[in-house]
Amino acid sequence: MSFGGKRALVTGAGSGIGAAVARRLAVGGADVILADVALQPIEELAQEIGGQPLQLDVRDEEQVAAAMAGLDVLVNVAGIGSTTTAPETPLDVWEDVFAVNARGTFLCCKHAIPGMAERRGGSIVNIASVAALVGLRNRVAYCASKGAVVALTRALAVDHVADGIRVNAVCPGTVDSPWVRRLVEDAGESLDALRARQPMGRLGLPEEIADAVAYLASDAAAFVTGTTLVIDGGLTAA
Ligand SMILES: NC(=O)c1ccc[n+]([C@@H]2O[C@H](COP(=O)([O-])OP(=O)(O)OC[C@H]3O[C@@H](n4cnc5c(N)ncnc54)[C@H](O)[C@@H]3O)[C@@H](O)[C@H]2O)c1
Repeated sequence: MSFGGKRALVTGAGSGIGAAVARRLAVGGADVILADVALQPIEELAQEIGGQPLQLDVRDEEQVAAAMAGLDVLVNVAGIGSTTTAPETPLDVWEDVFAVNARGTFLCCKHAIPGMAERRGGSIVNIASVAALVGLRNRVAYCASKGAVVALTRALAVDHVADGIRVNAVCPGTVDSPWVRRLVEDAGESLDALRARQPMGRLGLPEEIADAVAYLASDAAAFVTGTTLVIDGGLTAA
């Protein structure tokens, strides 16, 4: 899939899935803006794959508004997790999770869409999660925020289909990223135990999510909008 001449912005580009998406789009020839709240990882990645590092907190509307002009492709990857049930979840944790996952995705779409509409085309891919589709234990704020991302994706797709803008979501299963490794370590678990719980006996690779994003972002998916592509190694099929 070629992205020659396309300008793309990836949030959360400093780590895991976002870094793999940025790399995939850059290899395809896109001019990529690597956006992340953490500066050092995107500076290092930009040295390696090219593109432009941009320190961006997706919760901040002013920063987002300044970053979203003239895009052909927007991929919203920035996200944070939660590890508690409802009674255990302080309101500020709920709000922090929604601020990044739901509000952040909303703000980036809100400010990217007018420029895309003016150019009569654009593709937005939002990274949701299988947590939007099935209940995951001890992740109540995370599940709800990713459900919001899927619903937001559909609503945007309907509102902007006539502008030539496609909006889709990808729902990854368990993917080997720095985040998942941190979670496993914090839970005192082993990666092997996590692998053993997966239908394929392995975790997904960030590159496998990036391939799905590249498809949805490209003209190969010209008739695809408002959909949710589940890439989970069969996790939610069971
Ligand atoms: N890894 C998985 O198993 C998995 C599964 C389903 C969905 N996801 C989703 O994929 C996305 C990426 O996950 P990952 O595993 O690569 O995580 P990660 O923690 O490795 O990377 C997330 C990146 O987002 C950035 N970020 C956090 N808050 C931000 C903010 N306010 N503004 C800008 N950037 C911010 C972080 O600095 C980090 O670089 C998340 O939205 C996550 O919910 C991951």
